[in-house]
Order: sequence, then C-alpha cells, then structure tokens
Amino acid sequence: MSEDRYLTVALGKGRLAKSAMEIFEAIGITCEEMKDKDSRKLIFVNEEYKMRFFLSKGPDVPTYVEYGAADIGIVGEDTILEEARNVYEVLDLGFGKCRMCVCGPKEAQEYLNHQELIRVATKYPRIAKNYFYNRKGQTIDIIKLNGSIELAPIVGLSEVIVDIVETGSTLRENGLVVLEEVCPLSARVIVNQVSMKMENERITKIITDLKKVLEERK
Ligand code: PRP
Repeated sequence: MSEDRYLTVALGKGRLAKSAMEIFEAIGITCEEMKDKDSRKLIFVNEEYKMRFFLSKGPDVPTYVEYGAADIGIVGEDTILEEARNVYEVLDLGFGKCRMCVCGPKEAQEYLNHQELIRVATKYPRIAKNYFYNRKGQTIDIIKLNGSIELAPIVGLSEVIVDIVETGSTLRENGLVVLEEVCPLSARVIVNQVSMKMENERITKIITDLKKVLEERK
C-alpha cells in the first residue's frame, strides 16, 4: 500500500503505555508530544514515519485493532484473552510481566480443593470461567467487577477473586494470598488481520526491529 497511509498504533493507557513508547523509541520511532502529561490530546502523529499513536482504555485496544481503526496494538495478554478478538498476536514484548491468579483469604483454599460452588469476583469473567469450568471442572458464580477486586472477599461479596498479581503488595496489604495461578502474563503486540496483508512490509519491519531490541536487552 502507499507510503502515504498512516500506520496507526493503539496503546493501552496506564502501566504499559510508558514501556510501549520506550520500545518504539528504541527502534527510532519517537513521539515527543505524547510525553506531555498535561495534554488532553488523544492522538499523536509522527510525520516522518507516517505513524499515528493513540491511547485508549486497555480493553478497547483489541477492539480498535480488530476493526482496523488501529493497525497495531500494544496490550496485556490478560486483555487479549478476555476480549478474544480476531487479531493476530505477533510478539511477546516481555515487559508488564505479572500473573493471573485465584486469590483470597488462605482459608478459601478449601473451597478450591473441594470443588465447592463459590462466588468468584473478577474483571475477567471469560478467563475466570475458562479456568474454573474447563481446567478445574468446578462450577462457580461469577461476579463481574470493574476494579479494586481485592475488596470483594474482604467485604463478603465473594469467596475468592481472579485478578492480576504483579508485586503482590495489594494482596499482602489486604490479608489475601495467591491460592492458584491461572497463567503468566506480559505485554503483547497485536495486528489487524487485513493490515498484516496490506501493510506487510512496514509492519514486518516494525516487528523485526522490535525483536532485535528485545534480543539486545536479554
Ligand atoms: C491491578 C490488579 C491488582 C493490582 C496488583 O489493579 O487488579 O489490584 O494491580 O498489583 P500488585 O500485585 O503489584 O499489588 P490496578 O492497579 O490496575 O487497578 P484496579 O484494581 O482498579 O483494576
């Protein structure tokens, strides 16, 4: 496709965005404007490389990429698994490492060992359902929450939670523990399926350059 078309990259707001911009900088694609924390601008352009970057809520990144509103997305594996969109997952960026876990007060281990019908609070109903139903064969009630999931077992909304554990400090400070690990997680690059064909050369170059940087960092 013509070099005049802008390649659009969607980044999830929050923890991953800074590392994502850093790795693009490492392959020579910078976007100074994006570093201005006071800016309310939503989209940033690099004219030299004919690239656009935008920040969206993490769970929306795979949606933008599936529909082709973004050619490339950088987002956590947790979001990719939860959203289950039709996108190509092309690269593990190695940063944003954390784990998806079943957590709760340590006494709740019993409920897991004995396959009891329990309530599980989570921001990730698909991942939780898949884990309990398909991997453990345990029937549960899922309660969807939007954040501060650790509250749920403390105030009696659920017996356990399925949530991300990074440093473990949120759990520790609230008297909860990891009961079971669901899967390890990290930041990934996803690509729109049509863009992969139409913009193959440019996208492949970006992926190859990113891989080189990751190799050098090892
Ligand atoms: C995430 C996650 C845990 C916490 C884990 O929440 O849901 O609460 O980070 O990190 P830690 O192991 O380093 O303590 P986030 O801060 O993204 O906000 P949220 O609770 O509103 O989802």
